[in-house]
Amino acid sequence: MKTLAIIGCGRIASLQHFPAISQIEGVRIKYACDLIESKAQAMKDKYPTLVENVITDYKIALADEEVEAVFVLTPNYMHYTITMDALRAGKHVFCEKPITVSYDLSVEMAEEAKRQNKILNIGVCNRYNAGVEKLKNMIDNGELGKVYHIYCSFRGCRSIPGLGGDFTTKSVSGGGVLIDWGIHFLDIALYLLGNANLVSASCDAYCELAKDMKSYKYKNMWAEDTMDVENGTNDVDDFISGYVRTDKASISFNGAWAQNIAPIEMYIDILGDKGGARLQYGEDFEFFDGDTLEASKPAFEMNNMFIAEDSAFLQAIDSGEKTKTYIDNILQSMLLLDVLYKSSDAKKEWHV
Ligand SMILES: NC(=O)c1ccc[n+]([C@@H]2O[C@H](COP(=O)([O-])OP(=O)(O)OC[C@H]3O[C@@H](n4cnc5c(N)ncnc54)[C@H](O)[C@@H]3O)[C@@H](O)[C@H]2O)c1
Repeated sequence: MKTLAIIGCGRIASLQHFPAISQIEGVRIKYACDLIESKAQAMKDKYPTLVENVITDYKIALADEEVEAVFVLTPNYMHYTITMDALRAGKHVFCEKPITVSYDLSVEMAEEAKRQNKILNIGVCNRYNAGVEKLKNMIDNGELGKVYHIYCSFRGCRSIPGLGGDFTTKSVSGGGVLIDWGIHFLDIALYLLGNANLVSASCDAYCELAKDMKSYKYKNMWAEDTMDVENGTNDVDDFISGYVRTDKASISFNGAWAQNIAPIEMYIDILGDKGGARLQYGEDFEFFDGDTLEASKPAFEMNNMFIAEDSAFLQAIDSGEKTKTYIDNILQSMLLLDVLYKSSDAKKEWHV
């Protein structure tokens, strides 16, 4: 039986991790923890046989020797502090993406995990998506030939989250659409390429559509409970565009939490010299065969990637295996975000 604590009972916790963990055998959640007690209580009410206690101070869970592992599902800047405290208290940690608000702090977290000899997995859940896995197998088997370019589109319409709150405050989130959505897409790109080393990157980040927060009009405001246009901050990217060189292939991308273009376009194009693929984010993909000139949708069984990633974390605790989402394997994605923001700030290409 694995004894866990869940720290942070907001959206990703309630929509994905509690439901996923409830499907996994041999697990008890000794503590559901949130600064806002009612959010933790709501999880206990929903999963009365799984969740045992409600707390607001995560240090109570860290002091409990029965707790073997914790899930850190809080806003980005708190990932660092809670994860470091948990590792030092001898716990294994699953920490949501991004690792935290900067590359340097991410490296410190990786070093602490090594020092404490604990598993520290990061929630780049798409690495457990069956469609991404199928595509990676095809690339690794040579079916696309040499992959020379990947293009990522992560563009919504008017959908800045929680304007003025945690998501749009750089000191809390580390950035806007790039660190929030871009991490998933660029991490998939680097994962598909397989251990590509970064060479240089060029990027421009924009904060345009909610410069005057009070007059911003939107179609969709997720995280609306954290919105604060009266007293809050919006100092992060709502649109981003960039170009990346690696030692294997180049990557280009456009991302928008908000833009004055209506269609929502969430996909990744992988261009190989034998074939290409368009992966619809979180869904299936179309493969174009450069020989037959036919397009097809390769068959695979879609899975629940959150159950897969949470199960992989719990198994890694027993096996000690440093899986594909062990922190060391995600540092390159954090480095990429760091370099892209540096390029945008400096308004020039940034060499790694
Ligand atoms: N993997 C994914 O696809 C995915 C999707 C959404 C969010 N996320 C990540 O999950 C994290 C949380 O995002 P969210 O949308 O659930 O945010 P949220 O604001 O809905 O939830 C965060 C919760 O953490 C709580 N919290 C903050 N500080 C705390 C502390 N010190 N102790 C205990 N609780 C604390 C807040 O009260 C809040 O309820 C973010 O890092 C985000 O990037 C990942």
